[in-house]
Amino acid sequence: MIQVAVLGYGTVGSGVVEVIEKNKKEINKKSGEELNVKYILDLREFPGDPYENKVVHDVEMILRDPEIKIICETMGGINPAYDFTKRALLSGKSVCTSNKELVAAHGPELIRIAHANQCNYLFEASVGGGIPIIRPLNYSLTAEKIDAITGILNGTTNYILSKMEREGADFETVLKEAQEKGYAERNPEADVEGYDACRKIAILSSLMTGKNVNYEDIYTEGITKITATDFVYAKEMNKTVKLLAQSKEVDGKFYAMVSPFMIGKDHPLAMVNDVFNAVFVHGNMLGDSMYYGRGAGKLPTASAVVSDVVDCARHIGKVIMCFWDDETVKLTGIDEASRKFFVRVAAEKEKEAIAVFGSMAVVEADVAGEFAFVTDAMTEKEFNEKAEKVGIISRIRIEE
Ligand code: HSE
Repeated sequence: MIQVAVLGYGTVGSGVVEVIEKNKKEINKKSGEELNVKYILDLREFPGDPYENKVVHDVEMILRDPEIKIICETMGGINPAYDFTKRALLSGKSVCTSNKELVAAHGPELIRIAHANQCNYLFEASVGGGIPIIRPLNYSLTAEKIDAITGILNGTTNYILSKMEREGADFETVLKEAQEKGYAERNPEADVEGYDACRKIAILSSLMTGKNVNYEDIYTEGITKITATDFVYAKEMNKTVKLLAQSKEVDGKFYAMVSPFMIGKDHPLAMVNDVFNAVFVHGNMLGDSMYYGRGAGKLPTASAVVSDVVDCARHIGKVIMCFWDDETVKLTGIDEASRKFFVRVAAEKEKEAIAVFGSMAVVEADVAGEFAFVTDAMTEKEFNEKAEKVGIISRIRIEE
């Protein structure tokens, strides 16, 4: 029997216990041995919970118990998860986590410690919830040189944008409704400002390069400035607006960013709606592949954590390879990235915009007092200079 501990009995942690219990026949068969949740660490008591007798409040009970071989860290945040994880790995206990903040901030160090102690630090649930994406990058696409990853990696913002498109509603209205229904956090900053997607693309970019992509180096822009009017134009252009997290290698230069983009309705990511996530991976031999599913939620995320538990159970005392070195990847600033932009200016600035931007595709829509157009491809730097000269209302990058 393999003894497991769960750190944090919140949404994901309780999901992990539920998945291990509900699917025990399948999970035990695939693990090659029976799994048992011996402890659940939480500060709170859970009177009446079927697992209340497993709840402990002192992490030392878990870290000092030689029977515990696998720990699920579903606490979230850096502290104390970082300390608990490090100590668990140093004592040869594998850790499976959904904690993207910790993985993005300390991934290579924790993987190194795990491997030095003949155990594993696995993090399938940290990106894309229940979608298998870490394992495909680590084990399945090993014959590929992956040169681009583009994802819709945040369910909250995708839900908001999908609803704005469908209902013609403004950002604030939809956010409020999403908060009332419990889809969006009371403090939605990490989601709507793109920080959550930023950490997730940092993790994927690190696995793509095999080196460390620092999330703080990634240009990040959220969806708070996207308006109902942008969707009026998008509809005329047969496009939609999505928050994309991107990572690309072009001629030996690495670019990564999180930003709202206009994408064609025929783009595979345009069909990813509501809380769903998707990751679009380009390999030099395979071409495009896409991974789609529930990017958040109790059971989908817990299922991914438990898939890592099964992997650890199959590899007790053995290292599962993961190429993510400490060496930092130098990202090229987005100033040098070239693309088209959708631009809105006040109607009286039409002539000036034409004079400054030159060749453009005008966008006709039922919006009073504005002139809108799509630029030719140009660098961000060039665009910003021109936009400042004219004085624009807003711009959205275009992904082709
Ligand atoms: N807040 C995240 C989301 C949860 O909305 O996608 C999953 O990481």
